[in-house]
Amino acid sequence: MTYTTILTETRGRVGIAQLNRPQAMNAFNLAMLGEVFDALETFDKDEHVGAIIVTGNEKAFAAGADIKEMSEASYIQMVTEERVEVWNRIRGIRKPVIAAVSGWALGGGCEFVLSCDMVVASESARFGQPEITIGIIPGAGGTQRLARLVGKHLAMEMVINNRTLTAQEALQFGLVNRIVAVEGYLDAAVAFAEEIASRAPIAVRMAKDAVNAAFETTLTEGLAVEKRNFYPLFATEDQKEGMKAFIEKRKPNWKGK
Ligand code: HXC
Repeated sequence: MTYTTILTETRGRVGIAQLNRPQAMNAFNLAMLGEVFDALETFDKDEHVGAIIVTGNEKAFAAGADIKEMSEASYIQMVTEERVEVWNRIRGIRKPVIAAVSGWALGGGCEFVLSCDMVVASESARFGQPEITIGIIPGAGGTQRLARLVGKHLAMEMVINNRTLTAQEALQFGLVNRIVAVEGYLDAAVAFAEEIASRAPIAVRMAKDAVNAAFETTLTEGLAVEKRNFYPLFATEDQKEGMKAFIEKRKPNWKGK
């Protein structure tokens, strides 16, 4: 598929989707929303891809939903257009999705990051939910995912009082995994993603599913999900190979079977 608002490429086993509306700080218009989720789903189906990166440019990951496109929208349009519900598509992606963030990740941009599985941030990354400044609140999961991640008080301050976090603060509060230099931040994220893509594919999928359950269930239900995902791994060739390789003191050769 030819995209007009994003760029895609594959480096080794890493699929990369780059938001590409620099004239609008990568604000998500309807076209870009459709394209980025389409790209994620395409990478998810591609057996050569083991991990997926979503990135922007040095100045902006994404400055949120496109305010100009949204400003005259009616209540009915917000309910019926693919503007809000479409964000749920990221929850269906089974491979790890890593956000490589430099510059602004605001509003829907921050919510997108919160929906990813891991985050590599450049030193210039800034995270915030400024919706309150334009008379709305986050609508793509921000109030829920942020509160679960950074706790109630900081989430309240970010959502109600437009507090933005520096990369260092985001690291401190558990919103990002690591901080890298602005120059070459994408290469650093690719190296990180390559490491993840080199892991046993079925175990990675099961692990992602199980960790996600921790945010959606009680402990009892979550532990049941973990067991449901743990036992079948003993029916995979990769489990036999992984343990055999350990005993034989060599690197495992994963088959994804
Ligand atoms: C549309 C945007 C935009 C946005 C920036 N631009 N953010 N256009 N929607 N969200 C455009 C500007 O209008 C401008 O275009 C160009 O990008 C450059 O932006 P500047 O403001 O001139 O740049 P700068 O001074 O460096 O400030 C950068 C910024 C600021 C801090 C990111 O642009 C900003 O505050 N943007 C809005 C952030 C925001 O409120 N996001 C929440 C959106 S609501 P022109 O043509 O004028 O040069 C949301 C809800 C999600 O995300 C709900 C999901 C269901």
